[in-house]
Amino acid sequence: MRGIEEKAEQGGTLWWETEPDRSALRRYFHERSVSRKNYTSVQIKKVKAVKRWDRKEGLALRRFEPQTELEELLLRRRTRRFRSAAEPDAELLARLLQFAVGVTDERSGYFAYPSPGALYPCTLFLSVDLPELRGNVYRYNPYLHVLELYAPGRADPLEAAIIDRELAAFPIKLFFASDYQLLEEKYGELSYRLLNQEIGHMAQNLSLCAEDLALNTVCIGGFYEEEFKRAVPDYDLLYVMVVG
Ligand SMILES: Cc1cc2nc3c(=O)[nH]c(=O)nc-3n(C[C@H](O)[C@H](O)[C@H](O)COP(=O)(O)O)c2cc1C
Repeated sequence: MRGIEEKAEQGGTLWWETEPDRSALRRYFHERSVSRKNYTSVQIKKVKAVKRWDRKEGLALRRFEPQTELEELLLRRRTRRFRSAAEPDAELLARLLQFAVGVTDERSGYFAYPSPGALYPCTLFLSVDLPELRGNVYRYNPYLHVLELYAPGRADPLEAAIIDRELAAFPIKLFFASDYQLLEEKYGELSYRLLNQEIGHMAQNLSLCAEDLALNTVCIGGFYEEEFKRAVPDYDLLYVMVVG
């Protein structure tokens, strides 16, 4: 800022961008936090220490036994890296999507999860191992509650995107992606943060609803976005979840 002021005081020509690229920061960060087959931007290490906590005096809170179904469900939810005994079908998938990430208020256009400015910047893509859906890439259209056939016969790149091959054996794979439509126009540099916050809400809804339907889930940060993009080039991939 000082530099700009000085330049103005000196009477020099001042150039500025009237339309800055609001997505530049997001691109910079997104491109530098990736896992690729021959390159990873982080070396993931085993951490043995426990989280440091500088204890303060305070009010000890009462502990309860769970009293409601929701409390039971929250207690029960766990990451289970194996398939449950339940055999998911298209009906189960429809219920999961409707209640966890669907439109719950048609009149106002609100969804089952909160969203920055009600813009719903995250879009879900699916690869599903069910006879009627197998092999294709679907995009969930929450507005119409439809699984849109997005890329026929192109599920292989989505399947290959999951690094842990045991998790790739789950029958339902959800890919949380975005093309940033409207978001950066409204929120500029805050957008990337807001998008990831929304995705956290979606994932939590999905894992709790799946738990309620006796299905196991794993949230996955270990994925190859470049594989996903072979089938879905126009969206960035931010999170993956397997259900089954
Ligand atoms: C953002 C995020 C990324 C994760 N990535 C992976 C992953 O790539 N592979 C995996 O097996 N588990 C992954 N997990 C699951 C965590 O390991 C798990 O939530 C944690 O061990 C706590 O267990 P719990 O979910 O049963 O409470 C991830 C969880 C989160 C929230």
